[in-house]
Amino acid sequence: MKRIKLPAHLAIIMDGNGRWARRRFRPRAYGHKMGVQNMFKVCTHAFRLGVRIVTVFALSTENLYRPKAEVEELFRLFRLYFSERKERMLEMNVKINVIGDITVFPEDIRAAILQMMEETKDRTEGLFNICLNYGARQEIVRAVNLAVSQGRYVDDASFSQLLQTGGIPDPDLIIRTGGELRLSNFLLYQSAYAELYFSYKMWPAFSKRDLEKAFENYSLRDRRFGKVREG
Ligand code: IPE
Ligand code: IPE
Ligand code: MG
Repeated sequence: MKRIKLPAHLAIIMDGNGRWARRRFRPRAYGHKMGVQNMFKVCTHAFRLGVRIVTVFALSTENLYRPKAEVEELFRLFRLYFSERKERMLEMNVKINVIGDITVFPEDIRAAILQMMEETKDRTEGLFNICLNYGARQEIVRAVNLAVSQGRYVDDASFSQLLQTGGIPDPDLIIRTGGELRLSNFLLYQSAYAELYFSYKMWPAFSKRDLEKAFENYSLRDRRFGKVREG
């Protein structure tokens, strides 16, 4: 890999599991299974390269309205990796943080998620945020209501604290796989100055080398944050 500048906070919209499976004449569920495995591979690589924070979009609020069988399959995978095979998650050696409304999940999954967050809370090597039943608009509306209920005015800094990502710096780079050129209700407030990178590869096929290519591309970006560069 060429000399690169790494994002401190990398976010990934892991899209394309269903199409990847369909193209192989396999059920969408198989795509999700391979997608989770790829998540471990690619995110572990990101941490190894030196990224401090990785945030993945694993399930949107809207995804819960997919056919029941697909939602059940996703729940089965959460159960597997937060509980029965949780060592896979734990061996990443980073703090695990779930963002989103998990109150709608079955009780056992909710308990397993909270347990994993508790178990990894003192880890300082890296932070792995998993967005589950997450929607950026819902997050913003919730934060507004919080401010209103506390009867206070907010500014950018104090409002950011009320978001579910409160205390976590904004993402520097957002990668979306699967060929769609949109954010689909992901980190809308936090992405104000994020660099966006789109890949036509379906998520299960997105490799460690593809991640490095995204970082190489990110290194070439001139992040001006609305200012002008002197000279
Ligand atoms: C992303 O893959 C994973 C989830 C949304 C849970 P998709 O399931 O959206 O796959 P495609 O986009 O239909 O191929
Ligand atoms: C975004 O993908 C959500 C996740 C990757 C978890 P979707 O497949 O749900 O997005 P749309 O429907 O193409 O916008
Ligand atoms: Mg999709």
